[in-house]
This record gives sequence, structure tokens and C-alpha cells, in this order.
Amino acid sequence: MNEISVHAEIDYKVRVGQEWLPFLQSVRTDHTKVLVVAPENVVQLAGLTELSSRFNFDLFIAPDGEAQKNFTTVEQLWKKLGSLEFGRLDAIVGIGGGATTDLAGFVAATWLRGIAWYAIPTTLAGMVDAAVGGKTGINTEAGKNLVGSFYSPRAVCEDLTWLDSLSDRDFAAGLAEVIKTGYIRDTSILRTLHEFRDIKEARRHSLELVAKSVAVKADVVSSDFKEGKLREILNFGHTLGHAIEKSADFQLRHGEAVSIGLHFAALLSEPALDFPPSETAKLKALLDKFGLPTHIDHQRFPWDQLLGLMAGDKKSRDGRIRFIGLTSVGHPAWIESADSDLLQATYERIAE
Ligand code: GLY
Repeated sequence: MNEISVHAEIDYKVRVGQEWLPFLQSVRTDHTKVLVVAPENVVQLAGLTELSSRFNFDLFIAPDGEAQKNFTTVEQLWKKLGSLEFGRLDAIVGIGGGATTDLAGFVAATWLRGIAWYAIPTTLAGMVDAAVGGKTGINTEAGKNLVGSFYSPRAVCEDLTWLDSLSDRDFAAGLAEVIKTGYIRDTSILRTLHEFRDIKEARRHSLELVAKSVAVKADVVSSDFKEGKLREILNFGHTLGHAIEKSADFQLRHGEAVSIGLHFAALLSEPALDFPPSETAKLKALLDKFGLPTHIDHQRFPWDQLLGLMAGDKKSRDGRIRFIGLTSVGHPAWIESADSDLLQATYERIAE
């Protein structure tokens, strides 16, 4: 097991390679009451209904996927916590992908102004990104993740056996975040990924990939928990990625939208930051190898629509769209006010 420390408003550990059931049992003994929040597919896969009576914890079955991250589910959870008379010695455990850990963390942040919570991510994207760093929240009519709180878990348990349950498509979507991490900081991740023949080989090296990605995220978050500036480097590929994800009405995986966004950000970095075109080609080759998309259909995702969504993104400032780009591999930089002609020309290079 690899234990990686995060220093935020509290200090906690991300335990990569720890078995989830003993972890849950120890959380159970440390708290008076425990409520596990998990989506239906995870409940089935892990036999959580049976375990809840064996280990005496309560269970809230959330809808699958992004649909659980909304106010209706939050309200149901608050009602459940009220009926269970949840107090300050009690804890919530989120078991699932990023949507579940974001939801569980947000409910923990808001109940009694903050009770303990723990994350057991079950997807690669959840392990390397969503469950680490304390960003919790839900989606509302106004947009994705606009309502939330920076609120760290007490611990994160990353049992890699969950990854066996993921389709290649879902695993690859998580790899987009791993690739991002390599480009913004730990280039050894990229050397390793270039050596792999295919996704099967990447799966066999999950421990190394997850541990290295979490180490980068933990380091960035520990320096800038509330995203003053440095933490924004984690958004490499996400400015366009979020717009594509929203435009696709969340029918694309987050990592797939980010993959296109990574390609776009690298292409934009060529004129904006002198990023070498040969390196953009290598980035594209890596995304291609794992079956990740790098281009978009211009009819389905017209530029004006994406531009409008990017301008409305919570990370734009004074209506200016900000991108994280690269000066070289492993060295991110801010592209603060890219010329609109340049943005459109870059879009045309990824549109088909
Ligand atoms: N997913 C980006 C962040 O946690 O800041």
C-alpha cells in the first residue's frame, strides 16, 4: 500500500492499494453511526445491502451516474440524516465514482456545518482526481459544480480491485486524467504510458499510475487548497473539456471530453507558448493509443456554442476565457487572453 498525505484544512491520507472492506469496518468502529452513500450498481457489485446489516451501518442508494449530484438527492440525504439523528460523532462514507464522492462530501460539509466523511472511489477518474482534494458539490440549473464546498475527507481508500469492474471505455476515460497529470508535472508517467502497448498493459500497472497521479494531485492541493492559482493547473484540458461535456449533455465521459480538451490546449500552446508541435503529436498519439477522442464533430459541437459555454464557466474571469497550456512537457502555464481568431483557428484543427 502507498500512503500519500494531503495537507488541507485538515491533514489526511490517501491509501492507494488498501482493501475497502477492512477500511469501512474501521470507520464503522471509529464512529457512533455511519451512513454509506453508494449508487445502485456499486450496491449490487459489493453486496452492500447484506453488509449493512452485518456491520450495522445505514445505506443510502443513490441514482447511478451524474444524476445523483443534484438538490433532490441532497434533500433526501438530509432527511435521512435527520431521521437517523445524525450527530457530530457520526460519519458519511461515499463509495462510487466522482459523482458519489462529490455528493457524499457535500452532504457531510452541510450537515451540522460539517461532519466526518470518507471516500472510497471505485473508478480510475475518482481515484486520481475527484476523491482527492476536497472539492465537493452538486449540479444545479445554473450549471455543473456551481454549488459546493472545499471540504476534505478524513481519509481516502483506493482499493484497485474496483478497477476490474470498469469497462475499457471507463478505464480509458480515467487515463485522460492520468495523462493530464503527466503533462502538468510528473513526466515519468508519460514515459511509462508510451511504453505500454495497449490499455490491458496500462491496467496491469494501475498501482504505479494511480500512486503517481495521486502524489501530484496531493502536492498541488496541499499548496493551494482553495484554488488561489496553482491548483488551476489541474484544469489543463478542462476549459474546452467542460464545455464539450456540457454540450454533449453529459453523454460523453468526463475524461473523453477532457481528452479532446487536452489536444486543443496543446495545439493552442504551440503559438501561445511556443510548445513544440512534435510534442502535441506525441500527446495525440498517446490519447489515440487508449482509444480516447481527440477531435469533435463540428455539427454537433459548433464553435459558437462551445465559446458561449466557456465564457460562462466559473473559471473565466471578467468574461475572459483562461486556458492552462504548456511551455514544455511537465511545465504548465496560463494563457490568459487568447485572441478569438486564434481560438477559432485552433478549434478548426480539432473539428471534423
Ligand atoms: N479536478 C480539479 C481539481 O480538483 O482541482
